[in-house]
Amino acid sequence: MSEPATESTADEQPPGRTRRRDLLRGLAAAGAAAGFAGAAGLAAGRATADDERRAAATPEDDADTVAQAAGRPDAVDAMGAHQAGIARPDTPQPHGLLLVLDLAAAPSPTAPFRDAVRALCARLGTAILDLTGERAAEAGLLDGPGDLTVTVGLGPRVIAAFGAGLPGAEPLPAFARDTAVPPERTGGDLLIAVYASDPNDVHRAASWLSERAAPDAVPRWSQRGFRAPGTGTIARNPLGFHDGVIVPQDAAEQDEHVWIADGPLAGGSICVVRRLRLDVAGFTAEPVERQEAVIGRQRNDGSPLSGGGPTGEVDLLAKTPDGQYVTPARSHVRAAHPSVTGSALMLRRGYAFDDGASDAGLLFVCFQRDLRTFVQTQFRLDEVDDLGEYVTPTGSATFLVLPGFDAGRPLGVTLP
Ligand code: HEM
Repeated sequence: MSEPATESTADEQPPGRTRRRDLLRGLAAAGAAAGFAGAAGLAAGRATADDERRAAATPEDDADTVAQAAGRPDAVDAMGAHQAGIARPDTPQPHGLLLVLDLAAAPSPTAPFRDAVRALCARLGTAILDLTGERAAEAGLLDGPGDLTVTVGLGPRVIAAFGAGLPGAEPLPAFARDTAVPPERTGGDLLIAVYASDPNDVHRAASWLSERAAPDAVPRWSQRGFRAPGTGTIARNPLGFHDGVIVPQDAAEQDEHVWIADGPLAGGSICVVRRLRLDVAGFTAEPVERQEAVIGRQRNDGSPLSGGGPTGEVDLLAKTPDGQYVTPARSHVRAAHPSVTGSALMLRRGYAFDDGASDAGLLFVCFQRDLRTFVQTQFRLDEVDDLGEYVTPTGSATFLVLPGFDAGRPLGVTLP
C-alpha cells in the first residue's frame, strides 16, 4: 500500500492562481443508487461466511487477492485533525453514498441522550478505523480498504441537545424552490457519507458500518452519487460544465473558510447537502452561448467569460464596449460570488446522481465553517440566478461534521 493521501498544504497552490483571499479583499473595496442502500442484510452472517472462505482458501486464491489489491488506489488516512472525505483525498473518489438516519431516541438535552450520542460516535469511529485498517475484509472489502473514506455528521436536532448556540445546531431555512422537497428527504439526525473508487465498497462499507455501530438508527433517506474523472475538486457536472473550480484550495484557505476554528467542535465543519434535480435536456438544448451565459464560464474548459484560464477567477467588473457586463448579470457565477453574497468561500464537492425516470441531477455537497455561507449564497441564487430555471430541489439537509479523531481520541469526544 502506498503512502496515505494527505490534505493539501499551503505550498500546493496551483501555479498562476490568484489567491482568492486577496481577490476578495480587492473586490470588497470595489463594491457572491437509488434509494436507501439497504443497511440491513449485508452484514448479517458475513463474519461466518468470510471465516469459511478463509479456511478454504488456497495459495492461488491468496495470489489473486494480492494481484487485485495491487491495483487498488492509495489509502486515505481516516485519522487526523479533520475527518476524511472533506478535503482529503484531494480528488474526490468517483463513487459516493450519503446515508441519512434518524436516531431511535428523540433528541433531548438530557444526560442519557447525550451519553448515548457520544457512545454512538465513538462506536462509529472505531468501526471506521476497523474498516479502513486491518479488518477491512470483515466488512467485505476483500482486497483492502483502497481509497475508502467515511465522514460522519450530526443533524441540528442532535447538536442542539448539546447546546443551542453550537455550530450546527441551526437547521436550514426554507428556500424559494423548496416546495418539491419531500419531508422524508429533509434533514436527519446522522449522516454517514462513504466514498470510494469501487462502488461495491461504498455499499458494503455503509451497510457494515450502520449495522455495526448504529443498529438502532432508522434510515431516513440516502443517495448514491458518481463523479466524472477530474483533477482536484474540478470535474464536469451533469450539465457538462467544469464544476468545483472556485473553492478554498490550500490548507490556509481551508483553515479560513472550511474548518470551525474554536470551541468544542474546532476542526469540524458545517456540511450542506442538496439533492438538485436538473433539467439536463432543457439546458443542453439551449445554444452553447446561452448555456455559457447562464453559468458565466465557457463550456469547453471552464474559463471565465471575462478571460483567463480554466482555473481563473471571474472578473465581475469587466464590461463590453457597449457597457454590458461580460459575466452576465443573472449568471450563476455572479449570483454565487462571495463578493455579491457577502459570504466566505465554501468547499463544493458535489456528485452527480441518476435515478432514472428523469430524476437525475447534482448531489450538491459543500463544507464551510459557518452555515451562513451557504444560506446567504442560496438566498441570492433564489433571487437572481438564471440557472434556477433548470433546478428542482428534491432533498435538503445540514450536518455538523465532527472534528477528526484517532485511536486515542474517539470520534465525538469533544461534544460538550
Ligand atoms: C444545480 C445546481 C448547480 C450547478 C449545476 C452549479 C454549477 C456551477 C458551475 C459550473 C460553477 C462554475 C465553476 C466553479 O467555480 O465551480 C459554479 C460555481 C459556483 N457555485 Fe454552483 N452550481 C449549482 C448549485 C449551486 C448551489 C446550490 C450553490 C450554493 C448555494 C452554488 C455555489 C456556487 C459557488 C459559490 C460558485 C463559485 C462562484 C465563484 O466564486 O466564481 N452552486 N457552480
